[in-house]
Order: sequence, then structure tokens, then C-alpha cells
Amino acid sequence: MRNLARVFDSVADAYDAGRPTYPDELYRALAEVSGVELDGATTVDVGAGTGILTHALRARGSQVIAVDPGAEMLARLVSRTAGAGGGRPAVAAVLADGNALPLADGVADLVTYAQSWHWLDPVVSIAEARRVLRPGGAIAGCWNLHHAAQAEWLAAYESRLAEAVPTYWGPAVEEWSVPPIAAAFEVIEERWIPWTRLVGIEDFLLDLRSHSYMAALSPEAADELVGRQRRELREAFPEGVLSVPMRVYLAVGR
Ligand SMILES: C[S@@+](CC[C@H](N)C(=O)[O-])C[C@H]1O[C@@H](n2cnc3c(N)ncnc32)[C@H](O)[C@@H]1O
Repeated sequence: MRNLARVFDSVADAYDAGRPTYPDELYRALAEVSGVELDGATTVDVGAGTGILTHALRARGSQVIAVDPGAEMLARLVSRTAGAGGGRPAVAAVLADGNALPLADGVADLVTYAQSWHWLDPVVSIAEARRVLRPGGAIAGCWNLHHAAQAEWLAAYESRLAEAVPTYWGPAVEEWSVPPIAAAFEVIEERWIPWTRLVGIEDFLLDLRSHSYMAALSPEAADELVGRQRRELREAFPEGVLSVPMRVYLAVGR
């Protein structure tokens, strides 16, 4: 495993506060494409992080085993789980590497990777997912992405990131594409789900701080870049609210 868990652990609070949830349409598409009814399913959510997908699956009746090697990320997931019981199924939080799941064979109906599969070994992780799936189960990867081509201001925002951050990887890079999880599946269906995120500038900047490429900058360089983005965004949107064109890429396979 690339030891990147600590990268996210260092930005766990910003991640928890700033990252968007996924639109409802994602869950409808996931159930439809996978053929797995979310209510009553057992899902292994690999790279669960602070639990954005985990909590939404749980709210839809899934019993979720949330796996992540980042102790700080998982701590946020656990604290949010504790405050949201209400007769919902249990969530098991497991501090572990998704390339070596500490789970028995054939326990899951779904294995999900929400913005996480690209951190894992592309071959070993899928072999592990197949091992823990029941016959008829499905594997799903999804990524919540800025649709920069839909708004000039967003394209300019991404370009400023590309200029300032050596490890930036996103829509401002010509050769950027979604992670190639579809290539790992035998039967595959892909969906693009557009949606719009309404968010205040400060929450949007917290989201920015939660990206691994920002965590790789020195604190001074990160502050300087966030300050520059804040100035540009406030000038363009003095009312302080952004309407961000987003799209979720979903790939489901067996
Ligand atoms: C971008 S975050 C995604 C978190 C969450 N799934 C979401 O949708 O917001 C990526 C997560 O993958 C986790 N991760 C990194 N390497 C991993 C590995 N080898 N196995 C499992 N998770 C890993 C990180 O700790 C981090 O929490």
C-alpha cells in the first residue's frame, strides 16, 4: 500500500467539514446498475474516510463495513455514526488496508470505492473485492468531480490550482481522466450524473484544503494559495455563494 493514509489524516477536519455529499441520483443509479437493493444489503465501503458514502448507504438501509487505513478519517466516521442511530443498521469501522481486507470470503453484496480506488493497488484491490463478494454481488467506484467545462469561473479556479500546485491532478490538466476502474471489470456499466452544488466560499475553500495535493504543500504555500482563491472568488461572487457544476462518475462491475 502506498502510505497515503496520513495525507488524508492531516486534513481530516477540513475533509469532514468541506467535502460535498453525493446526489440522491447516485444511489438510485447504483441500485439500478448493480441490481443490488441497498436496503438490507451488506456493503464493504473501502477507503470510507469520514464516511460520506457510508452514512448515505446506511440511511438507505445498508449494513456497512467501513474500511480505511486512516485513523483520523475513520474517527470522524465513527463520531458521526454514534450520533445517528435511530434504528438504522450498524456500521462497523475497520482500520485496515483495502488491498488486504480482514474479512471472510463471500460476506458482501456490494464493495464500494468512493473517490478511493485510485489510492489502492489496481489489481490486488479488485481481487480482494471479488473475494469478499457473494455470488451476484457488485463492485462500484464513484468520483464526485468539478465539471469545469460548464463554468468559466470554475475552469479559471482549476487553472490557478494547476499553476500553483506541483502535484495537482484534475480537469485543468489536458491528459486528466477518471481513474481506470472500468478496465478492471468483466461486466461494466458507467454513468455520468450531473448535479449542482450550492456552497459558501469558505466551505468551498475548506474542501480545497482537504485535497491530497494541498496537503503536500507547505502550510505557508497552502495558505497563500487559499488566500488567492478567496480573493478571486469574492471578487467574482460578492454575495459569497457559489453554484458549482458537478458530475459524479460511477462505474459498476462484477
Ligand atoms: C479521497 S478520500 C475518500 C473518502 C470517502 N470515501 C469519500 O467519498 O469522501 C480517500 C480515502 O482512501 C483512503 N485510502 C488510502 N489508501 C487506502 C488503502 N490502501 N485502502 C483503503 N483506503 C485507502 C484514505 O485514507 C482516504 O480516507
